Amino acid sequence: MDVDDINSITVLGAGNMGHGIAEVAALAGYTVNLRDINEEFVQKGYDQIEWSLNKLAEKDRISDDDAEAALDRVTTFVDAGESVADADVVIEAVPEKMDIKKEVYEAIDEHAPEHTIFATNTSSLSITELSEVTDRPKQFCGMHFFNPPVRMQLVEVISGEHTADETMDTIEALAEQMDKTPVRVRKDSPGFIVNRILVPLMNEAAWMVQNDYATVAEVDSTAKYGLGHPMGSFELADQVGIDVGVHVLEYLHEVLGDAYRPCPLLEEKVEEGELGKKTGTGFYEYE
Ligand code: CAA
Repeated sequence: MDVDDINSITVLGAGNMGHGIAEVAALAGYTVNLRDINEEFVQKGYDQIEWSLNKLAEKDRISDDDAEAALDRVTTFVDAGESVADADVVIEAVPEKMDIKKEVYEAIDEHAPEHTIFATNTSSLSITELSEVTDRPKQFCGMHFFNPPVRMQLVEVISGEHTADETMDTIEALAEQMDKTPVRVRKDSPGFIVNRILVPLMNEAAWMVQNDYATVAEVDSTAKYGLGHPMGSFELADQVGIDVGVHVLEYLHEVLGDAYRPCPLLEEKVEEGELGKKTGTGFYEYE
């Protein structure tokens, strides 16, 4: 399929990443079906898109008319089969667990048209393994956005072992249509490029605090004022979701070994439900 043949995009999962990806797709002019497992979750995602579009308009990054038009392009769904029935591309952004993602692909494969490309927003899991639960492994690749999708420029476009070159070309071109800068990741390896670098950095920052070498504020100050990062490592963990970071670490630990063992400080935050901005508390407090 050529990128110009893409009209309708379904985003599965209306959480932090899903709603942001749906917003980016709607701003690029696509018809967007946003789906989550119940009305409450999908409505919350829709409301967050509305909040974000209003914020962008307030800051003159887009016009009020563009914000309104983008929101009008988004329709919410709870039924997975219905949500993909007219999709040219499905972008899946459900929780970062292999079993959950596989279940979702098994549920939608027979309902999506034959030409539809499946793109997963996984942060680290094997594209090849996920593609193999579908009947369309050639039309399957990674399309990994960064948080918050509407503000971050990069999209990693990841090839699995079965991905056709045509699929990679189309999804790369789609990222460009969305005004993003795609980087093609040729090798389907755990964490791809960004998370193979970023998540160990977050883990190391947590070990510094766990072992009482530094405080959260001290580590964050060094990242911002010494390394020139826009956010400190703990601020960033709160932004992406501490649970997301821990899921990636657990996977890297499982497949790559002990160097990636999640720091207990991060695991405790997850156990306490203090996941960062999305729950109002993480390493910092949010209103
Ligand atoms: N939509 C619209 N507005 C948003 C927003 C969103 N989704 N998220 C935040 N904002 C708003 C804030 O509310 C704030 O508004 P107020 O000033 O009214 O409070 C405003 O944006 C801040 O924007 P600024 O441009 O003034 O601030 P900034 O220059 O600091 O930019 C940022 C914000 C782009 C998020 C920047 O801090 C940044 O680049 N941070 C690093 C983010 C990053 O590294 N993300 C990647 C994480 S890794 C990942 O996602 C992958 C994974 O798999 C784990």
